[in-house]
Amino acid sequence: MRSAHLFKRRHPTTLPFPSGVRCRVPAGFVWGAATASHQAEGDTPASDWWRFEREPGRVQNFFNYPLFAQEKKSDHWRRFSDDIRRMREELGLNGYRFSIDWSRVEPREGEFDEAAIARYAQICGELRAAGIRPCVTLFHWSSPDWIWDHAREQATGWYDPRIVERFERFCARVVPALTPTVDLFCTLNEPNIFLYGAYSEGLLAPGHRREDSDLLPILRHLLACHAAAYRLIKASRPGAEVGIAQHLQPFEPESRFHPIEALVAAQAEQQFTWSIPDAIAEGRLRFRTRTGRRQVVDIPGLAGTADFLGVNYYERALVRVPGGLRVDRVEVLHDHRSTKEVWPREIYARGLLEVLSTAAARYRLPLYVTENGRAHPDDRERERFLRENLAALGWAVSRLGLDVRGYFYWSLLDNLEWANGFLPRLGLYAVDYANGERKLRGTGSAYAAIVRAGEIQT
Ligand code: FCB
Repeated sequence: MRSAHLFKRRHPTTLPFPSGVRCRVPAGFVWGAATASHQAEGDTPASDWWRFEREPGRVQNFFNYPLFAQEKKSDHWRRFSDDIRRMREELGLNGYRFSIDWSRVEPREGEFDEAAIARYAQICGELRAAGIRPCVTLFHWSSPDWIWDHAREQATGWYDPRIVERFERFCARVVPALTPTVDLFCTLNEPNIFLYGAYSEGLLAPGHRREDSDLLPILRHLLACHAAAYRLIKASRPGAEVGIAQHLQPFEPESRFHPIEALVAAQAEQQFTWSIPDAIAEGRLRFRTRTGRRQVVDIPGLAGTADFLGVNYYERALVRVPGGLRVDRVEVLHDHRSTKEVWPREIYARGLLEVLSTAAARYRLPLYVTENGRAHPDDRERERFLRENLAALGWAVSRLGLDVRGYFYWSLLDNLEWANGFLPRLGLYAVDYANGERKLRGTGSAYAAIVRAGEIQT
């Protein structure tokens, strides 16, 4: 029993450096928080998510929440100016990451809502006036519903090559309206989670489940959209910093001493975490299906279209190969997308240090932590997550000298956590879903104190 336990021993979870060390971040470091349009804004009826969440069983307990929440989400669109004031006065932030809702800007194909574009531009101006640097994401998972033909979904939407020119047309309208005040852009949010969550697992709109081997065209389209957006932004504001926000997850063998698990974990990490940023660096996508089939695709105009890498970090994945050498029975043990109020279950800030170090060495690009946060009913647990992850960040910046230029806590507000509905609460502000009222959590105050001090204690 004892030796079996020993062999199952996982990697240590503690941070690999002393506690109590004071780490200062460089001047100009961006202290921020993040949201995404569909999750927080409310009133996006032209989006595919609006349709999806109204289909029975798609979003946990969606209909048990007040109609206010179903329609207004965190009521961010109407309260934007007030939320900017909170960020400035209560949190002292100098950065805010949010996304543009494509369906709000182009509710019907080719028909642009100029008032919506103007409002987004105004929001960016208000952020600047408040001393908050806007970081704009152009695609954070919700698309206009018109991209889909619901009778033949699998030939339309993100499967249809026309998505690239459509996305480019949307960017061509919105980007020049924003570049007078915005110099930091994420073209895509987590293309890896979007790909697997949406199309492998069917958890995101429009709810498809496809074989792994069918995912390649979508990924090619996503990467071509990224490259097109990169070019447009650079043409409009050459000095802007442009990148993607990628979900970076270390994969580890469940047992430290199991060579097959170690091998499978390394392959899974390469595919899930690194293959997309690698493709952007090289212009060549190396894709591996779960059955092990490899495909190599060159994507014209993609190579080098990143000025930074956005790091969304939450947790590690543990890989178990239960059937001895039967690699076909791999299980990935992590509860990403769990329906629980607690997510991630484990605090593993060591993983943030690992992915930052690996990304810095691999791409030699500046990094931003574009998401990091935790849902928990006990706010002290949320705060513990924040402090440990900030310790890892502080160490990475001030002791390892990594070029990490900012940190955006996920999320500013409790919001619709996709298929998990309103149950997971990650906000620095608690949101009352009956009326949208906000209340600063202890984690928010703790974050504000760290931001004010400009210093992280490990
Ligand atoms: C990330 C998503 C973000 C939010 C957090 C909790 O994967 O980018 O929209 O759902 O998880």
